Amino acid sequence: MGAGQKIKAPRGTEDILPEAWLRRRRIEIEAEALFSRAGYGRIGTPVFEDTDLFARGVGEDTDIVQKEMFTFEDLGGRSVTLRPEGTAAICRAYVEHGMHKLPQPVRLWYQGDFFRYEAPQAGRYRQFTQLGLEAIGSDLPEADAEAISLLDELVRTLGVPGVRLAIGSIGSADSRAAYRRELQEHLRKHEQELAHEVRERIATNPLRAFDSKDESTRAVMEAAPKLVDRLDDADAEHFEAVKGHLDALGIDYEVDPTLVRGLDYYTRTVFAIKCDRLGAQSEIGGGGRFDGLIAELGGPQVPAIGWAMGIERVLLALESESDGREASAQGADVFVAVADPDERKRALVFVHEVRRKGLSCEMDLAGRGLKGQFKQADRVGATYTVILEPDGGAQLKEMSSGEQAELDTGAILDRLVSEAGGEL
Ligand code: HAM
Repeated sequence: MGAGQKIKAPRGTEDILPEAWLRRRRIEIEAEALFSRAGYGRIGTPVFEDTDLFARGVGEDTDIVQKEMFTFEDLGGRSVTLRPEGTAAICRAYVEHGMHKLPQPVRLWYQGDFFRYEAPQAGRYRQFTQLGLEAIGSDLPEADAEAISLLDELVRTLGVPGVRLAIGSIGSADSRAAYRRELQEHLRKHEQELAHEVRERIATNPLRAFDSKDESTRAVMEAAPKLVDRLDDADAEHFEAVKGHLDALGIDYEVDPTLVRGLDYYTRTVFAIKCDRLGAQSEIGGGGRFDGLIAELGGPQVPAIGWAMGIERVLLALESESDGREASAQGADVFVAVADPDERKRALVFVHEVRRKGLSCEMDLAGRGLKGQFKQADRVGATYTVILEPDGGAQLKEMSSGEQAELDTGAILDRLVSEAGGEL
């Protein structure tokens, strides 16, 4: 790109401006409060990891690993990948820090940026934010119900409109192996009616055929055997118990026998929340059990369950209902104006003192005249404006009434502090 030409943010990424941060912060604050009441502690993992972690964890045959990873060689010749999801890394951390020695389950939550090289569209980006949690070390159906109820509760607390919870069970690795063969047979019988990419994956990932948008493939899948009808006794019993717990919690859900997810590590319970206000990318969040992942990554055999929610999709869903009134990121309790530019140094010091007292305070840094400074004070919504005069004097102006009093700056500071004790 030539010098002087404008550079834009990379495709599929966005800048988050101050007002947007306020909306994101609200989600994080609500989530943190909810999670900490349930005993979840926050975890952070690196934004990049060894490529092998995702290849093994997420699965070689998944879309994510095959075509969506930002993988590159670092200057030391190692293959590293920007994390496309959080669960594999959290399991790595669980093993690396010996967390299996802690009382189980270990409850962890996270929020951070994730990267997938997908075709960008509304609700689908190359860099996006996930908020999620994992409960590691329990195979009890109560753990499934707890995790699902936290997702349901969070979506409710945030006021996301038009949501629907779907759940399913994809059984354990053993029951799935037998079912896989049965499904492959069905797919081979109808090979001519299947979309090209579905046909290609009959051998490697036949379950993904349920995800196809292709009309003729969908007809074949309607008639396909369903995994939920082929669960072994223990898996079926587990699923029944999860449903029973959700009923007891009063959580609405529907059983979706075709619910398959784009990651290979799932076992038994899977679930997703969709929002009808969004277009093609309607899944706000989802997850499931991953009872084999930690062992797959070289750790002990430890069962786990979790989910992640896409923050951008939640924001889009909330926007579809918003009244357009935005909270403003900018604002100040006090504005300090100068009658003469020579007073700027005094203003700088005074602003500093006011801020130290815990009040928000601004001064003009654009070289405005006194009239312009008053306008700016209005714009930032100041309750008081302090005018510093050349003779060392000062005035305190209450913006709502226009009342003005001549006081020294010490007295003004005291007055501002005592007013702030009420509400400024
Ligand atoms: P996932 O379904 O791949 O699951 O992603 C979770 C959520 O992230 C999705 O429901 C969606 O809201 C959001 N999301 C995914 N890709 C994009 C994208 N390209 N742009 C915007 N949002 C996106 C996982 O990642 C699992 N790790 C969840 C989990 C945790 N399972 C067990 N524990």
